[in-house]
Amino acid sequence: MTDIALAQRVASLAPSPTMTLDAKTKALIGQGLDIVNLTAGEPDFDTPEFIRQAAEEAMNRGETRYTPVGGTARLKKAVIERLKTDTGLSYGAEEVLVSAGAKHSLYNAVLALTNPGDGVLLPVPYWVTYPEQIRLAGGEVQLVTIAAEHRGELTAEDLERAVRPNTRGLILNSPSNPSGAVVGRAHLESIAQFALQHHLWIISDEIYSRLIYDGVEALSIAALPDMRDRTLVINGVSKAYAMTGWRIGYTAGPQAIIAAMANLQSQSTSNPSSISQAAAQAALEGPQEPVEEMRREFDRRRRYAVSRVQSMPGLTVNEPKGAFYLWVNAAGVMGRTIRGRNVTNADDLALVWLEEGRVSVVPGSGFGVDDHFRLSYATSMDRLAEGLDRMEQLLEE
Ligand SMILES: Cc1ncc(COP(=O)(O)O)c(C=O)c1O
Repeated sequence: MTDIALAQRVASLAPSPTMTLDAKTKALIGQGLDIVNLTAGEPDFDTPEFIRQAAEEAMNRGETRYTPVGGTARLKKAVIERLKTDTGLSYGAEEVLVSAGAKHSLYNAVLALTNPGDGVLLPVPYWVTYPEQIRLAGGEVQLVTIAAEHRGELTAEDLERAVRPNTRGLILNSPSNPSGAVVGRAHLESIAQFALQHHLWIISDEIYSRLIYDGVEALSIAALPDMRDRTLVINGVSKAYAMTGWRIGYTAGPQAIIAAMANLQSQSTSNPSSISQAAAQAALEGPQEPVEEMRREFDRRRRYAVSRVQSMPGLTVNEPKGAFYLWVNAAGVMGRTIRGRNVTNADDLALVWLEEGRVSVVPGSGFGVDDHFRLSYATSMDRLAEGLDRMEQLLEE
């Protein structure tokens, strides 16, 4: 043993639970077991070829050196154009910061806006990383329960119940990971009113904005009247372009906040990979058909998975309108015994499915709800069908 003690900020840090289950699943796969993995947080598609080519060309041109900390001028221009096209929002180069993935953008944003003791509203279920980032900044996580009748869609009434005198901000994630819920225009307008009234900043994580279904609108709250000055829009290329490994995310927002985030980044990671930046520029500027092709395939799987899950005993699910996950309520399974194991929460259920059924899903505990689980349909239709068969079989025993 050593006499070196860890700093408090990391001693209490929870490892990402989605990564933990993923690691367990991969370990079993590594032992040669045929596991159907429905835990993935990334598209199963390859990065489109023209994007890979752009990276190769950048390398061959010698773009292998430091770039400006906050991204090349060319990539920022591509980000600005894309935001204009997709959201109608106009930003200048000094209002955009490129980082090493949207997770990094979020980290810079939370650190730049949160003082120790500040309250940050976080709707439940939340993506696993948000509470830990808020705590790392010394902030207080203020959980927001979404009224059941709104089927996962956040409303201003939910926020009113959770707001406290020390509340300074809100993390909004629409479309949501894990629930796939998309906040519609009317609710978004009332959330904007709420933020104005309480003088809150908003971090709007729009990483799944391109993966939406049934013709719903993925509106940015920053585009509503008076909201641009208090909102950081976060997006990236990971999910829409199947580029999770390239690590490019970006933030657009008020110049003073972007400058502070750029300072932080300049003293920690500096610029994201020059080669990835060239690839991201090609992705944002190039043909967008590959995004639409992937979106259509996700949609097909989504409808199939929803209908299968809805017919399984003890499970219910709201049809997700975005992202590539089903957020399944398994309350009807709690208290059952499956293969001699008591199932008291979704962690138990996920373990039974993994060890007895050889199918892996992510229990909801990491997202703040322990009788739900997240099922990712970012896998081939065949594997998805096989995984759902295995889940169903155990539930019907
Ligand atoms: C809601 C949400 N935000 C941000 C990210 C991070 O994206 P990136 O891979 O670009 O860091 C993820 C990835 O899982 C996510 O689900």
